[in-house]
This record gives sequence, structure tokens and C-alpha cells, in this order.
Amino acid sequence: MSQDYFKTAQELLDNIEQFHTDKRAELEQFRISYLGSKGKVKGLFAGFKSVANERKREFGQLANAVKAAAEQKLNSLKSLIEEQEDQTIEIPDLSLPASFNELGSRHPNSIVLNEIIDIFSRIGFVVAEGPEMEDDWHNFTALNTPENHPARDMQDTFYLDKKVNPAMLLRTHTSSAQSRVMKNQKPPIRIIVPGRVFRNETISARAHCQFHQVEGLYIDENVSFADLKQTLLYFAQEMYGANTKIRLRPSFFPFTEPSAEMDVSCFICNGKGCNICKYTNWVEILGCGMVDPQVLENCGIDSTKYSGFAFGMGIERIGMLRYSIDDIRLLFENDVRFLKQFDSAF
Ligand code: DAH
Repeated sequence: MSQDYFKTAQELLDNIEQFHTDKRAELEQFRISYLGSKGKVKGLFAGFKSVANERKREFGQLANAVKAAAEQKLNSLKSLIEEQEDQTIEIPDLSLPASFNELGSRHPNSIVLNEIIDIFSRIGFVVAEGPEMEDDWHNFTALNTPENHPARDMQDTFYLDKKVNPAMLLRTHTSSAQSRVMKNQKPPIRIIVPGRVFRNETISARAHCQFHQVEGLYIDENVSFADLKQTLLYFAQEMYGANTKIRLRPSFFPFTEPSAEMDVSCFICNGKGCNICKYTNWVEILGCGMVDPQVLENCGIDSTKYSGFAFGMGIERIGMLRYSIDDIRLLFENDVRFLKQFDSAF
């Protein structure tokens, strides 16, 4: 009986030695069959107790040799297979031209915004920011628009929480950042605030429930309407060319007094008449005015000492005019075919 185990061991050794494969699945079969928990090596060791005492030592060595041979075979075939697999990975032809990494294009909103920031930073305005989730006080009350004031109807508001005091909302204009900055900084203040704003409007070619604005605010001693006008003329001529003219029309905003809307001479047709200016040669681009003294007081600034001007413009509107984009929705859909057209801006 014990003799049989010696024979089995020898056979196993021979089989192991002869075994060869270059397939992972077959090698796994081999592993299970020899080294698995119910495998042949285990079986061989189980025979140990049947071997005559005086040959136990010899058998033990043999059985260990079988186990070692199986493990060695497993490892060497495994390395072989891995090596083969490595070689089958395609080595690229390094003489081929490199594949072209497609560059994205800048969004028209970013192009316009970068230009606006650039123009105002040259005359000392710095960029400030405010939160998109704003409270009623900063968005309305501080800006002279208390509750039930009819001017609130000018902007359909998305309220987030009306139960808290002050109510939380999505800011309807970047003017809300004016009140934040005035409350936290002492004059002189010279900021522009770019950002996204939200209004509960039906989405159409001309209106969207979200868009972007740039707010401007300048507070110091002796700031006059002439400063406002000169600043905006500078802006218009930097943006649209040195021959650009501006026109201020009286208007109303709760937070400025007096208030105005600014038109620029049509940069599309230069006076020849076109659809954009509706043959008037004037295109409206922003709202502005002298900061109402009450707004200064609301935000803790002494209105007897300081005065200031503010303005606000829509980024989409400026981009749409410039690039003759006739549907605001295009600016939010991010269709690559649309965006690609602005590649040249790089
Ligand atoms: N906040 C106004 C709007 O969204 C735009 C505006 C008008 C901003 C006049 C101003 C301003 O700072 O002075 O329609």
C-alpha cells in the first residue's frame, strides 16, 4: 500500500514536469487540480499516515518535492503567459504624426466677460463676488425695494424659502452684491461684480430663467453723474471702437436716482441701419444711475460725505448683439457645433 503512494508521487512529478500551457484558463485548471484544497498534492499528503514508519521521512521529502514542483510550474507558466500578453500589446508606430488633441473653444459669455473685466480693471475696478443664493434684504430691501413695493414686479423672483426672515431667494440681479460690498467695505469702493442671476421667466428666444450680468459700483467723495458718463463712454469706446457714441435716456431703478439706460451707436451697421438697431442706430446695453442716498444709508455709508454711481449690464445681451445670436437658449445648450464658431477668439 505504502509503495503505491511513492508511485503516485513519482507519477505526479512526471505529469507536472510535462505539463505545459499558454492559456490562463488551463493554468488555473492545473492549479486547482494540483494545489487546490481538494487537489492531488493534498491527496498525496493524506497518504502520509499509511506509509511505513521507516519510510515516512523519505515520503515526506518526496511529497514536498511534488508540491514544490507544482508551485514552480504554476509560477513559471504564469510569468510566461504574462510575458506573452505584454508582447501582444500593440506598440504604437512612433513615426506616425501625433493624434490631434482637440481644443475646446471659449464660451461667448466668457469672451465678453473677460473683455469687460479687462476694460474696467484698467481704470482701477476690481472684481468682487456675491452669492447666487441671496437673502431678500440684500437683493431688494437694501436697494430701496421693500416688500410690496411695485418695483418688485419688475423681476419675477425664484424664492427658496419665504418662511425665514429675511426670505431666501435666487438673486434676480448682481446689484445684490452692491449692498453686500457696501456693508462690508469702506469707501472708496470701485468694483465690478460678474455673476449668474435668475428670474422666473418663460424660456424663449429672448428670455431665459438664468443669465449673467456685470454690476459696477463706484463710491467715493464727490462722485458725480459726469464721472458715470465718462466711465461709461470709456467703456463703450474700448468695447466697440473709438468712434462709438453713447446716449443716456432717463429711466427708473429703485436703487439709483437719477437713473438712466445707456444706448451705444450701432456697432453692427455703423449708422447704415440694420435689424439689430431697428434702423435707429442706437442699441441699448445697460442700466445705470447715481446710487440713491437712501441705499448708501441702508448699507451704513454716510450719504452726506459719499456719493456714487452704479451700472448693470447683461452679458448674454452684449454677446448676442456682438455675434448676431438671435436665440439666448443657444448660450445655455452648449451644443459643440454652436460653440465651435467662437474658436477664433483664442
Ligand atoms: N439691476 C438692474 C437689472 O437687473 C440693472 C441695473 C440698473 C443695475 C441700474 C444698476 C443700475 O447698478 O444702477 O435690471
